[in-house]
Amino acid sequence: ALERTLSIIKPDAVAKNVIGEIYSRFEKSGLKVIASKMTQLSRAEAEGFYAVHRERPFFNALVEFMISGPVMIQVLQGEGAVLKNRDLMGATNPKDAAPGTIRADFADSIDANAVHGSDSLENAAVEVAYFFPATDVFAR
Ligand code: CMP
Repeated sequence: ALERTLSIIKPDAVAKNVIGEIYSRFEKSGLKVIASKMTQLSRAEAEGFYAVHRERPFFNALVEFMISGPVMIQVLQGEGAVLKNRDLMGATNPKDAAPGTIRADFADSIDANAVHGSDSLENAAVEVAYFFPATDVFAR
């Protein structure tokens, strides 16, 4: 089915100047960028976005990392977009990520792991709405 998913290029990958390389992977796999913005998240925005992880031991480090520099946030649309994006990203820990995935190629650690992608269609809708008003999402 045609789906939408939320993708974030994290501060480490923005600093490495690989936004375009990552966008190329989305496009070559048939995903369309239908909304996009560069921003530096506030602490409150990062804490709210990752609220499901609030009780996890890595929560504070995750928030500190996500606010450490600008991020690129996009909505991707395509057939099976949620799983397709997760396949492109590879495993959360780059040590476990399959060769040729974004995290295998660009990530340094489980914290600085280059990209975020929604883990389900339900969460994708919540995450897209967290960052983009409907008028800034361009279905095409
Ligand atoms: P992300 O997909 O953005 O969702 C939560 C993030 O927490 C995850 O990617 C990792 O960068 C980070 N993280 C740090 N430690 C862990 C861990 N042990 N398990 C899962 N995520 C972790």
